Amino acid sequence: MDMDKLVSLCKRRGFIFPSSEIYGGLNGFWDYGPLGVELKRNIKDAWWRDNVNLRDDMVGLDCSIIMNPKVWEASGHVGGFSDPMVDCRDCNGRFRSDQVTILAVNYRGNEAIGAKYPPFFYSAVGSLVEVRGEHDKDIEKAKKKIASLGHEPIEFSGSLDRLLREGAHSEFPCPRCKKTGTLTEPRNFNLMFESHTGAVADEGSKVYLRPETAQGIFANFKNVVDTSRMKIPFGIAQIGKSFRNEINPRNFIFRSREFEQMEIEFFCHPDQAAEWYAYWRKTRFQWYIDHGLQSDRLRLRDHDPDELAFYSTATADIEYSFPFGVSELEGIAHRGAYDLGQHQKFSGKDLTYFDEEKKERYLPHVIEPSAGADRATLAFLCEAYQEDQVGGETRTVLKFHPRFAPIKAAVFPLVKRDGMPEMAEKIYRDLKKHFNVFLDEKGAIGRRYRRQDEAGTPLGITVDGQTIADGTVTFRDRDTCRQWRVASAGVVQAVRDLLEGQPIPAAE
Ligand code: GAP
Repeated sequence: MDMDKLVSLCKRRGFIFPSSEIYGGLNGFWDYGPLGVELKRNIKDAWWRDNVNLRDDMVGLDCSIIMNPKVWEASGHVGGFSDPMVDCRDCNGRFRSDQVTILAVNYRGNEAIGAKYPPFFYSAVGSLVEVRGEHDKDIEKAKKKIASLGHEPIEFSGSLDRLLREGAHSEFPCPRCKKTGTLTEPRNFNLMFESHTGAVADEGSKVYLRPETAQGIFANFKNVVDTSRMKIPFGIAQIGKSFRNEINPRNFIFRSREFEQMEIEFFCHPDQAAEWYAYWRKTRFQWYIDHGLQSDRLRLRDHDPDELAFYSTATADIEYSFPFGVSELEGIAHRGAYDLGQHQKFSGKDLTYFDEEKKERYLPHVIEPSAGADRATLAFLCEAYQEDQVGGETRTVLKFHPRFAPIKAAVFPLVKRDGMPEMAEKIYRDLKKHFNVFLDEKGAIGRRYRRQDEAGTPLGITVDGQTIADGTVTFRDRDTCRQWRVASAGVVQAVRDLLEGQPIPAAE
């Protein structure tokens, strides 16, 4: 799938626009248009329903974006939330140090990759390509591929990050001016956006736009325990905006400076943490598959020990094969008691939990499934985008899961006479009470179908000559273009059944 085609479809059909475009836009910021806002909202609603409303062990929260700055001291973001940057002494370019041109072959075997992704696996970040493989022949194949791109592969074991930290970057050419030996040592650059509260902008009034929603949950842990009667194990979920002054926002909405997160902090007894980690790792992976991401484009990558934060005993990333490379969709981290411990230390408040039944007091451990709403939106857009042949013509269609489709059904009068527009309007009004639907009266019926295919609308409902005669309408399935007739009195129920997964009738 060509990313440029998707970006242009998103613009043309009103899914996603560059932010403040009439002023030239702003790098790393995006606006969701009429179709995009429905798509993203449907994804967030589905996440909320499945993770909060349908469970007995989860409650929600909606915290402020700006919090007491001590929150970010406790969390480590003030001291450590930074990207290593390298500057080019020659052309003054500034790059994230993991984006200097490196082509590397990583010999390290990885169980998850070896088992699921033979023969080898590429992940590309900007101009960096990391290749991991299990078998010598895979590595040889990868080396040939890199050589065919005109590059000398570098072989190493361990993580690319470590390679960079160890200073190997100085041997690599500047990505912009291509000179070698001009890149500086990596220097840290804090990613938090700063602002000030009140009238005077000085150090004392400095605040931060939150870089993650998670810390608001930790800061409210005691409030929730004291007010909600939740007993451990239980989770707190939050969906909301986060802000990071990313050095290189890129790949459309994949890495932006303002984005939405869908985060869960699941609190449990330390003895049960490993079990809950395994549970969430599996459950979150399955959620993407259940909503249409193909399992061969998804993988669960366990972090190697040298990638883990010092307090984490295990972390896994759910990664998706985007057109620009395999990249993280969601992280599931076993964070131990680190966060509550830090907030207890910095706030001076007791954040331990008392188990009434067992008469045991302890600091709960946390499992954190942390997803990005924009990244999920992008993955579902990439997965949905297809070009196929219909009636000898190429059509572009977005095959969204019905739960995510911005418009659930479109109603069309075949012609603007013989009572068809009135009948279509009535069906449209009936459906609108239950679903987001669209009435389109203008143009050739084929063109109207194509427009809805591009919007990802699963069902077309046409009022035609036969409707006037026998009260039935034509239903059309977006994915197969198959058509069948439904009694107009039963349209609402028929749409509901189909959206909930009832198979479409077999062809006659
Ligand atoms: N509380 C943990 C945390 O924030 P993270 O891996 O930094 O972990 C979690 O972020 C998720 O948030 C990512 O998997 C991704 O989906 C999303 N995300 C992070 N940075 C992003 C960015 N700059 N643009 C879009 N989504 C982002």
